Amino acid sequence: MLRQPMLLLAKSQAVKRLVTTVPVTRAVVARYVPGENTEEAVETAAALIAEGMNVSLDFLGEDTLQEAQADATVAEYLRLLHALAGRGLTASAEVSVKLTAIGLRLPNGDKIALENARTICQAARDVGTDVTIDMEDHTVTDATLDVLHELRREFPETGGVLQAYLHRTEQDCHDLAGTGSRIRLCKGAYDEPADVAWRDRHEIDLSYVRCLKVLLAGDGYPMIASHDPRMIAIAQRIADDHGRGPGGHEFQMLYGIRPEEQRRLAAAGESVRVYLPYGQEWWGYLTRRLAERPANLSFFVRSLMSR
Ligand code: FDA
Repeated sequence: MLRQPMLLLAKSQAVKRLVTTVPVTRAVVARYVPGENTEEAVETAAALIAEGMNVSLDFLGEDTLQEAQADATVAEYLRLLHALAGRGLTASAEVSVKLTAIGLRLPNGDKIALENARTICQAARDVGTDVTIDMEDHTVTDATLDVLHELRREFPETGGVLQAYLHRTEQDCHDLAGTGSRIRLCKGAYDEPADVAWRDRHEIDLSYVRCLKVLLAGDGYPMIASHDPRMIAIAQRIADDHGRGPGGHEFQMLYGIRPEEQRRLAAAGESVRVYLPYGQEWWGYLTRRLAERPANLSFFVRSLMSR
């Protein structure tokens, strides 16, 4: 019930200004966002890698409407990749990039985002790692997949994300399940209209399983991004049916969500990657996480009110 209002808040600049100027306890945000700068992000990545995880780092930001901000985001990714290489972490650390953070919503945005993504992909390749292009709301699905398609001509190792809640996604899975493709399958985090997406949890789960079947039967590298124990168990069964060993797919979860399950899967020999967001632009990301779990919301509100 609270999901929709929370996701509306994610887009509200007024509420964002209000809340982000309150000195929210670092602990509330830190549950999901472990650092505000490159050094803190790299430290957290190193600690997770030492525990046997892989990571995907995301410099927070989205819906950029200024070219200078898009450029600054690209510069931060280059700094991050350099820092990861300096610590010898690039075998286990990749980066995730939102195209609207690097210019997709600017005039001529598809060209700007493609050029910026190319710069990041080249820097990632230079230090021996990969990039995954995050998926945002349905207004940019086609543009994001077009950019991914272009990027993969030059950087075939680039990963993409598909969201099971969209009606189109099962077909997109068929299109992207081929050799060499790396696809992260998630349920989807945005408030989407009923004409493009399922809104009922059960329908979304059914779609997630259909998409899992397509990706795990394909020749690509599926990245199963869910905290849902049922989806994880089903994915393991389907992967087994297709004779996929742990090297043939991986499980992904967000930093701070079900960490004990992340460790359990890794200890059981599964390949596990933790999505690790960092930076000061945590508002949109945090509200999506709160929308997924109302219990977290009351914790957040209590912490604001106790200030
Ligand atoms: P579901 O929401 O059904 O949750 C299952 C269980 O997980 C819950 O019962 C609870 O135990 C736990 N849980 C879930 N969310 C929690 C929370 N916020 N706090 C505490 N516990 C929680 N989305 C998108 O649209 N584009 C993208 O690019 C990505 N990228 C991405 C990367 C990775 C690695 C992950 C794991 C997820 C994404 N997502 C995403 C988010 C995704 O679409 C989805 O919103 C969340 O993963 C929640 O869905 P679940 O599959 O976890 O199931």
